[in-house]
Amino acid sequence: DPILSGKHVVVTAGPTREKIDGVRFISNYSSGRMGFAIARAAYRRGARVTLIAGPVQLPTPEGIVCIKVESAREMDEAARALYEGTDIFIGAAAVADYRPLEAVEGKLKKGAETMAVQLQLNPDILAGFGAQKKAGQLAVGFALETAGGLLNAKGKLESKNLDLIAFNTFEQPGSGFEGDTNRLTLIERNGRTDALPLMTKDEAAGKLLEAVSRIMGAEGGNA
Ligand code: C5P
Repeated sequence: DPILSGKHVVVTAGPTREKIDGVRFISNYSSGRMGFAIARAAYRRGARVTLIAGPVQLPTPEGIVCIKVESAREMDEAARALYEGTDIFIGAAAVADYRPLEAVEGKLKKGAETMAVQLQLNPDILAGFGAQKKAGQLAVGFALETAGGLLNAKGKLESKNLDLIAFNTFEQPGSGFEGDTNRLTLIERNGRTDALPLMTKDEAAGKLLEAVSRIMGAEGGNA
């Protein structure tokens, strides 16, 4: 792909883990498969690819640099260090929205009948990139919503200053976090919407990169 060739594509993938104490954490069921499929698809199209991955059980694809992180704050730090040299930032990670305000050292003691863990909002990694986006840089995100959530997805495209968002739902069979398939609806900044059928995550990643390449070719990024 002459447009993506040599471009630096940075992909976040997988869940994050937010420490409650030395042995426990808050996380989610993200497998990292969609993000890893995107990284492979970008590499196949000739891009230089960096993956920033939370804890996943997937082998690092050949030819791709993988930065392993645990928490949202670590993921944010790794992303920020790459901002300047990033051409295309794709947020496919299922970042934990909140972290325990204070991680307890050692092991939290059991005893009380009820207990509360106060949570603090995590940084939005993708929105951070979107906010500082320069001409020529593209930002791409995902929106996992209830089935009727297309408008929410459009809202996130706007609020995070993205060029493209992939809306998917966990309410349809074959979609979402854990499986090998996904059903994406690609929504572009200009309103163009492409509802893709159910396909493998590898195929979906190919379609996503196709759209990214077309947008990059047409606009050379967003001024
Ligand atoms: O707002 P919401 O979590 O639905 O947005 C999802 C998109 O934003 C995904 O692309 C996800 O990777 C990204 N995100 C992020 N950092 C967060 C929360 C979401 O990069 N703290």
